[in-house]
Amino acid sequence: MPKEMLPIVDKPLIQYAFEEAHRAGIEQFIFVTGRNKDAIENHFDLSYELDQTLSEKQKISALASTSEWLPPTGSIVYLRQRAPLGLGHAVWCARDVVGDEPFAVILADDLIDAPTPCLSQMIAAHAEIPNANMAAVMNVAREKTSSYGILETNERQKQLVKALGLVEKPSPEKAPSTTAVIGRYILQPSIFDVLENQAGGAGGEIQLTDALSSMLPTTDFYGFEFEGKRYDCGEVPGFLEANIALALARNDFSASVRSKLTALLEEA
Ligand code: G1P
Repeated sequence: MPKEMLPIVDKPLIQYAFEEAHRAGIEQFIFVTGRNKDAIENHFDLSYELDQTLSEKQKISALASTSEWLPPTGSIVYLRQRAPLGLGHAVWCARDVVGDEPFAVILADDLIDAPTPCLSQMIAAHAEIPNANMAAVMNVAREKTSSYGILETNERQKQLVKALGLVEKPSPEKAPSTTAVIGRYILQPSIFDVLENQAGGAGGEIQLTDALSSMLPTTDFYGFEFEGKRYDCGEVPGFLEANIALALARNDFSASVRSKLTALLEEA
C-alpha cells in the first residue's frame, strides 16, 4: 500500500494534495511515483464496477464522490523514479514534462489544513517575488531540525523570510535556525540544470534543499510562513492526529467521534 493512499478520515492523502493543487489553479498534475504505486493511478481513474453498483443501488451522492472531482483526461502524467535517490532526484525526473516554466511541488505526507489552501497562499505571495524559489516554512522545536531543510535567515517581510543559506537535516547543535521547510514549493525551471549535476547530500540522497542552496547566488529563496495547521502524516502520531482533527471538524459525525474519544480517554 503506497503511504500516499492511506486515508485521512475518508480520502487518501494523495487526494488532499491533488485537491489543494486543483483549488490553487494548477491544471497539469505530475505524479512522481515508484514501483508498486499503481493504486495511485487507479485512484485517479474511473471505477466502472463500483459506479455500476452504486448506480443500481441509487446511491447518488456516493456515486458523485467516486469521480466528479476527477480532472479532465490528459491532465495527469505519471512518472516512475526507478530508485529512491532523494527528493531532488524525484523532482528532476519531471524535467521534460514541466518544461521551461515555474512549477509547484507538493509532498503529500505534509497535510496542511487551511481555509485558503497553502499553495494558493503561496502563489499569491510569489507574485511579489516572481523570479525566486519559494517553500512553505514553519517554526519547529530545535530537537527536530534533523528532520527538515532549515533556513539560515535574518530578514523577514510579513510572511516572507529571505534565506541567506539552506541546509538539509542539520543536527540541533548545527542548525542555523528553527525555521523549517514544509512540503510545498514553487520552483524556477532553472533548478533542473542544477539537479542534473547535483552530488548526493544528507543520507546520500540528491537533496532539493542542496540545489536551492547552490542557486542562491543567482536565484533568491524565500520561506513563506503559511496560515494553517500542518500534520506530519509521514509519522504515525501525526497521521493519527490528522485523522482525529479532521474527523472532529466534520459536521456529519464530529459529535459521535468526540463521544467515542472521550470514552476511550476515560478508559485509558
Ligand atoms: C523533505 C525535504 C526536507 C523538508 C521535508 C518537509 O524531507 O528533504 O527539506 O523539510 O521534506 O516535510 P523528508 O521528509 O522527505 O525526509
